[in-house]
Amino acid sequence: MKKLNSIDLREAYLNFFKSKNHAVIGSASLIPENDPTVLFTTAGMHPLVPYLSGEKHPAGTRLTDVQKCVRTGDIDEVGDASHCTFFEMLGNWSLGDYFKKESISWSYEFLTKVLEIPVEKLAVSVFAGDDDCPRDEESAEIWHSAGIAKDRIFYLPKKNNWWGPAGETGPCGPDTEIFIDSGAAPCSPECSPACNCGKYLEIWNNVFMQFRKTEQGTFEPLKQKNVDTGMGLERTICVLNGHSSVYETDVFAGAIAKLEELSGKTYGSDEQVTKAMRVIADHIRTSTFIIGDENGVVPGNVSQGYILRRLIRRAVRFARSLELPADALVEIAKLYVDQYQNVYPELLKNKDKIVDELSKENERFRKTLEQGLKEFDKVVGYLPPEVKRLSGKAAFRLYDTFGFPIEMTAELCAEKGISVDMKGYEKAFEDHQNTSRAGAEQTFKGGLADHAEATSRLHTATHLMNAGLRKLVNPDIRQRGSNITAERLRFDFNLDRPVTPEEIKAVEDYVNGAIKADVEIKCEEMSVADAKASGAMGVFDSKYGEVVKVYTMGEYSKEICGGPHAKRTGELGHFKIVKEQSSSQGVRRIKAILEY
Ligand code: ALA
Repeated sequence: MKKLNSIDLREAYLNFFKSKNHAVIGSASLIPENDPTVLFTTAGMHPLVPYLSGEKHPAGTRLTDVQKCVRTGDIDEVGDASHCTFFEMLGNWSLGDYFKKESISWSYEFLTKVLEIPVEKLAVSVFAGDDDCPRDEESAEIWHSAGIAKDRIFYLPKKNNWWGPAGETGPCGPDTEIFIDSGAAPCSPECSPACNCGKYLEIWNNVFMQFRKTEQGTFEPLKQKNVDTGMGLERTICVLNGHSSVYETDVFAGAIAKLEELSGKTYGSDEQVTKAMRVIADHIRTSTFIIGDENGVVPGNVSQGYILRRLIRRAVRFARSLELPADALVEIAKLYVDQYQNVYPELLKNKDKIVDELSKENERFRKTLEQGLKEFDKVVGYLPPEVKRLSGKAAFRLYDTFGFPIEMTAELCAEKGISVDMKGYEKAFEDHQNTSRAGAEQTFKGGLADHAEATSRLHTATHLMNAGLRKLVNPDIRQRGSNITAERLRFDFNLDRPVTPEEIKAVEDYVNGAIKADVEIKCEEMSVADAKASGAMGVFDSKYGEVVKVYTMGEYSKEICGGPHAKRTGELGHFKIVKEQSSSQGVRRIKAILEY
C-alpha cells in the first residue's frame, strides 16, 4: 500500500478522476443552502442534489471534488480513536453519464494501481435486493471480473447497502461499499463488513443513485441514473499508513504536537490525556472550519451556532484538564488555518474572524467554567447515595448561570455514573422562557437586538407563508431552502410553474390574516415521532436530538423548527411578497418583507 499523506491523497484522487475526464469543482460551503432539514453539509453529494435530480451542472456530467463535511450525530463520542466531527470527503460523480461498470472499474483501478492496495486486502458489499430495488448482481459481477474473489463480495440489505437521501427526501439508491481487511481474525462464522467488529474498515462508498425518496417514504425513479461516491480522507490515510487512529495521521500531527508542547504532557501516555488531546484537536478543527466558512456562523444558542458553542465549550473543558494556557485553543486554530489555507483559502481570508470569535467564546466560558464545576460537584455531592439522577432544575441552573450546554452536564454526570432528568431540564428551560423574555434578548446588544428581532419575525412570516402556499397553491409544496436577513426572507420551494399574481395575493392575504388574528405562537418540545403524528410540517434530522420543537400558530401553521420566533403573530406588521422567480428546475423562489 502506498503510504500517502493527506496532501498526496487529495492530489492523487483528483488527478485520477481528471484523467477520466472529470471536472474538478471546489468544495461547497459547510452550511447547506438548499436543504433546511440538516444543519451542515454531511456528504459530497449534498450540494449536488439539484444536479443529481436532473438540473444541468455548468461543469458537465462528470465531476470530482474534496468536500468539507460536518457530522454532529455523536459529538460526545469524540475522544475515542475513530470519531471526528469534521472530515473531508473525496468524491466523484456521474450526472446521468457513466454507471456501474465504469464506476466500479475506476474505483478498482484507483485502489489497486494508484494506492497499490493488494487485491486480497479488499472486500466489497453490494445490495442484497428487496421490494424497492432488485439484488445487485450486476455490481457483483463487475467486481468479480475486475479481480475480487467471490467470497470477498458480501450481499447486504438496505440497512447497510443503501445510501441517502441526505435529508428526509431526495436522491438515493443502492450502493456498493469498499473495505480494507485489517487482517484480524473473523469475529464469528458470520463475520462480514456489516458487523463492525473492526476486521473490515470502510474506505469508499459508490452509490448508484436512481431513486428519489418521496415525502410519503416511497421510492420513485429519478430522471437520470447517477453515480455518487464518497471516500473519507482521514480514514483512508489512517488505513493506508497502518495507524490505529485517525488522530495519528498527518492531519492531526501538528495540533497534537502543539498540544504536547503547550501542556508538557504526552499523547498516548495516559487515557485521559489522549482523550483530551483528541477532543481539542477535533473540536477546534471543526470550529475553525465553521467560523471560517464562506457562510460562517458564530457561537449562539440555536442551530449551527449552538453546535459551534457546544464544540468550543467542550474543548475549553478538556483544555482545563490538560492545564493548557488561556490562549492555547486559539493557537491550535491558527495552526489549522496555516495547515489548510492552500486547500481552503476562505480560512485565511477569515482568519481574524476565526481568532476573534474563538477567543471571545473561550474567554466567556473560561470565566464561568471553574465556578460551574464547583457548583456541579456541590450539587452532585448533596445527592443521597441512592439517587443517581441530577434534577432538571440543577441542570438548568448550570446552563443559565454558568453556560454549561446540557450535553456537557449530561457528559459530566455520565462520568460519575449518574443521569440527568432531561424532561425536568426542558420544563425548567420553558418556564424560564415563558416568565422572562430577557434570557434570549440579553445576548443581543444594541443593533444586534434589532437584527435578532427582525429575523425572528421574518422567520415566523416564513412559516405562515409556507402554510399559505400549501393551502392555496399546491398541497405538495415543501420547503427547499430558506435564507433570512434582517431585511427580507427568501424561501425556495418545489413547484414546476410560476406562482400566479392571484395566488401571490391570496398567500399575502393569508399571512396578513394570521397577523391580524394576533394568535399566540406556541412552542412545544416533543419526539420526532410525536411531532409527525401531530401533523406538524417540516423535517429535522433526528440525529441532532430526539426532541424537536414544534411551533403552532393557531390554525394557521404547525411546523417543526429550531426557532427563534415572535411571541404573537400580531408583532409581524404587514407582509408583502416582493419577488417570485425560478430558482432552479422545479424550484421557485419568493422574496418577501415585513412593513411597519
Ligand atoms: N454519499 C455517499 C456517502 O456519504 C457517497 O457515503
